[in-house]
Amino acid sequence: MKRVILVGATDGLGKALAEVYAERGFWVTILGRSREKLEALVADLRGRFPVATVNGVVCDVADAARLEPAFHEAIAVTGHCDLFLYNAGVMHGGDGVTSVPALDAETMEVNAVAAVRLLGLAANWFRVAGRGQIGGISSIAGDRGRSGNPAYNASKAALSTFLEGLRNRLAPFGVTVSTVKPGFVGTRMTAGKPGLFWVAPAAEAARIIADRLEKRHEVFYVYRRWALLGLAMRHAPRFLFKRLGPP
Ligand SMILES: NC(=O)c1ccc[n+]([C@@H]2O[C@H](COP(=O)([O-])OP(=O)(O)OC[C@H]3O[C@@H](n4cnc5c(N)ncnc54)[C@H](OP(=O)(O)O)[C@@H]3O)[C@@H](O)[C@H]2O)c1
Repeated sequence: MKRVILVGATDGLGKALAEVYAERGFWVTILGRSREKLEALVADLRGRFPVATVNGVVCDVADAARLEPAFHEAIAVTGHCDLFLYNAGVMHGGDGVTSVPALDAETMEVNAVAAVRLLGLAANWFRVAGRGQIGGISSIAGDRGRSGNPAYNASKAALSTFLEGLRNRLAPFGVTVSTVKPGFVGTRMTAGKPGLFWVAPAAEAARIIADRLEKRHEVFYVYRRWALLGLAMRHAPRFLFKRLGPP
C-alpha cells in the first residue's frame, strides 16, 4: 500500500487530493489545523473508501513549534512514506494597494516558512530512505510580482525556488521533487474573484495532479495551456506588469 502525507488538506484542493488518494487505496495521513474538520474528513474518507487507510494529525503550520513533532507523528503513523505533499496555503484579499503587514507575514509563514521547515524535514528523511517523492503546491503566481498581492507572489516564488533546490539536491539519492503550479482551481480561495479563467474544478485538478505525480513529473500545471501562458508571463516586460492588476 502506497503512503501519502498531505499537509493542509482539510479543504479545497488538498481535500480533493485526499479523496483521490483514498479512492486509489493509499494510506493517507492528513495534517490539518482544525481538529473538527480533520476528524470529520477522516471519518468521511474511511466510510466512503474502506480500501484506504486514513489518519489525521492536528497541526497548525503557523505554529512553528508544532511542525517537527507533527512531522514525526505523521511518519510514525504510516511507518513509511512514498509521497509527502505540502498543500497548505493562504491568500488574503485586500484593496490591491494597501499592504497589511500582519497578513503578509502570515502568508509568508504558512506558504513559505512552514513549507521550508516541513519539506526540509521530509527531504532529510527521504534522502536517508533513498527513494520517495516530495511535492509542493506552488503557483504560477510565484513567477512574477503583481500589484494585487505581492506577499502571495513572494511566498510562492520562495516555495518554487526551495523545491527546485531540493530537486537538485536529492536527485542523486533517487528522490523526486515535484513543483505543482495548478493554474486557477475552483475553491474557497478563488470563490467570487473576478477575472479568472480556465478554472479547474477541484476534483478534476486533484485527479490530474495525482496522475502527474505518479508519473514523477517535476514541474507541471493542471491544464497544459498554463505552461504557455506561464512562459509568456515570465518573459513579459516589466512595464506591462506595472499596468496589470489582480489576479
Ligand atoms: N485555488 C487556486 O486557484 C490556486 C491556484 C494556485 C495555487 N493554489 C494553492 O493551492 C493550495 C490549496 O489552495 P486552495 O485553493 O485549495 O485553498 P483553500 O480552499 O483555502 O484551502 C487551503 C488549505 O490550506 C489549509 N491551511 C491554511 N492555513 C493553514 C495552517 N496555518 N495550518 C494548516 N493548514 C492550513 C486550509 O486549512 P483549513 O481547512 O483549516 O482552512 C485548507 O485546507 C494553496 O497552497 C494555494 O496557494 C491554489
